[in-house]
Amino acid sequence: MKRTDGYLLDNRHSAAGEQGDAVGPLFDPTTFRHLEGFGIGPGWRCWEVGAGGTSVVSWMAKRVGPTGKVIATDLDTSRLTPAARPPVEVRVHDVAVEEPPGEGFDLVHARLVLAQVADRERALRSMIEALAPGGRLLIEDADPALQPLPCPDVHGPAQQLANRLRDGLRTLLADDGSDLSFGRSLPRLLRAAGLRRVMADAYFPLASPACAALESATIREFRARLVTAGIATEQDIDRHLANVTAGGMDLAAAPMISAWGRKV
Ligand SMILES: C[S@@+](CC[C@H](N)C(=O)[O-])C[C@H]1O[C@@H](n2cnc3c(N)ncnc32)[C@H](O)[C@@H]1O
Repeated sequence: MKRTDGYLLDNRHSAAGEQGDAVGPLFDPTTFRHLEGFGIGPGWRCWEVGAGGTSVVSWMAKRVGPTGKVIATDLDTSRLTPAARPPVEVRVHDVAVEEPPGEGFDLVHARLVLAQVADRERALRSMIEALAPGGRLLIEDADPALQPLPCPDVHGPAQQLANRLRDGLRTLLADDGSDLSFGRSLPRLLRAAGLRRVMADAYFPLASPACAALESATIREFRARLVTAGIATEQDIDRHLANVTAGGMDLAAAPMISAWGRKV
């Protein structure tokens, strides 16, 4: 199985669309806050790397308007088709291997992508190369080790079960070679890559109904492996999914680290 570096997400699986749809409501407001802070506006040229679905590129398209450009790239562009009209251009592209799809970008953004890429250094170099002088790079990646619990407030058996399953999942991911602390390294990596004015912050919901969709999709995705590894029984998983559906779990998510800087 391909490493997922703690995102618990993998486009190739059938649950990918469902998981992808769950990421937007949780993390789009944070992403948009950062992009607004950069001053994104009419005429900007943006490259959305590993775009996944449409929520970020559609938001960018509204901001940059008809005089701007949003190039949305991904290994798998199937979920991007509805956004593929000017100023959005969709391209199949491997950020770890191919040349950038353009140059002189005011903004390059990659969320939950870099940790999945084997040659991260090359991918980062390519994203920075594509920036105009003064252009901004925003990289966002999860750091599940920083806040590992789906239920930090353990106030009953439902929360205990949720945390036990997630603990088992982390073991599986670590066995796969996933780096569950990748997010926190982003500011250092951006500085080392030559960016200036590098800053970073982190966000995670502590109790949000929006976490339920992601939790359910993730557990369903890993169900067979959790059972095969003896971490959980089918009954455990059914009980947990029912608990999540019932609500009132105070579900949290792994922190998203957002790190940004400017090209000299
Ligand atoms: C976890 S999803 C995140 C999608 C989106 N950025 C978001 O935050 O909702 C990771 C995305 O990165 C894409 N991806 C992974 N490796 C890539 C690569 N080498 N080049 C381009 N895209 C890649 C995947 O296909 C997938 O769409």
